[in-house]
Amino acid sequence: MNQPIAFASAPLGHHLMGVDIAAGVSDAQFAAIDAAFNRYGVIVLRNQRLTPEQHIAFGRRFGPTERYGIASYLLPGHPEIFVVSNIIEDGKPIGMADAGRAWHSDMCYVTNPPRCSLLYALEVPRESNGEPLGDTCFASTQAAYDALPYDMKQRIEGLKVRNSYAASVERKARLKRDRGGEFSQEERQKVHEKFPDVLHPLVRTHPVTGRKCLYVSEGLSAAIDGLERSESDELIAELLAHMMKPEFVYRHRWCEGDLVMWDNCSSIHIAISDFSPEQRRRMHRTTILNESSAVPGVFA
Ligand code: SIN
Repeated sequence: MNQPIAFASAPLGHHLMGVDIAAGVSDAQFAAIDAAFNRYGVIVLRNQRLTPEQHIAFGRRFGPTERYGIASYLLPGHPEIFVVSNIIEDGKPIGMADAGRAWHSDMCYVTNPPRCSLLYALEVPRESNGEPLGDTCFASTQAAYDALPYDMKQRIEGLKVRNSYAASVERKARLKRDRGGEFSQEERQKVHEKFPDVLHPLVRTHPVTGRKCLYVSEGLSAAIDGLERSESDELIAELLAHMMKPEFVYRHRWCEGDLVMWDNCSSIHIAISDFSPEQRRRMHRTTILNESSAVPGVFA
C-alpha cells in the first residue's frame, strides 16, 4: 500500500492519497497520516467505503471516541456516531440538520475540548447540473495567529475567552422564535446545567506541535474575561474576521465517500447551508477526545 501524499498549497485541507481505510491501515501508514494531520490540521481522504464500525475503529486510533450531543441524533446501534443530516424518516429527523452553521471549534464549551472530528459523507446534495452543495469551510487558527501584527499578539497574550454553549442555544432559540418556534424554559435550564460556561486561553498552544492557535468560535465565544463588554465584543469580531480571510480558509466540496478530519485546536469550521430540504445530505461524524478529556455525556 502506498504512503499517503500531502498536496502542499493551502495552510490546511491536505488531500492524502493511497489510503483505503477499509482495506486496513498499517502502523507505518497511520504514523504518516497522524503526522500529516498534526501538521496540516485538516486532512481529506477521498473514495472511502466505510461501515460505521470501520469509521469508529479508525477514529479510535487517534484517541477515545466521545458520545456527542443529542441522543436522538446518534446512529442507532453505534452511539459513537453523530448523524448530521436533513433527512426525515418515518416522520422523524435522522440527524441534526443545522449542525455547524457558524464558525466554531467542536465542543469549545467544555473544559477539555475534543482533539479532532472525522466527518464521512454518505449523501451529498447536488444542483441539477451535478455540482455538489453543502460544502464545509475550514480556517487555520494557527496560520491566522502567525499572521497577526506583533501588537495584537502582545495584546491578546494571556487573555481568556468565556465559551458558552448556553449562548449559542440562546442564539438558536432567538432564530427559532423568529421562525415561530419556541424553546422551553426546561430545555434552556437543562443546557445551562449540563454545560456551564468555561474559560479557555484565547491563544491555545497546540498540544503536539506547540504552535499557537487562536481559539474563538462564532456565537460560542461569549466574552473575553476582564474586558468591558464593548471592547470584548469588538475584539472577538476582529479576530473572527481575521481568521475568515481567504488565505487561511480551505473550502471542501464534498463527494460521497470523503472522510475529512479536522483538528479542533488548529482549525475552526462552518457548514454552508445552500441546499433545500429536498436535497438530501447525510454525514456521519465521530468526535475524538484528547486522552485526558472528561466531557459530560449525552443529554436526551
Ligand atoms: C459540524 O460542524 O460538525 C458539521 C459540519 C458539516 O456538516 O459540514
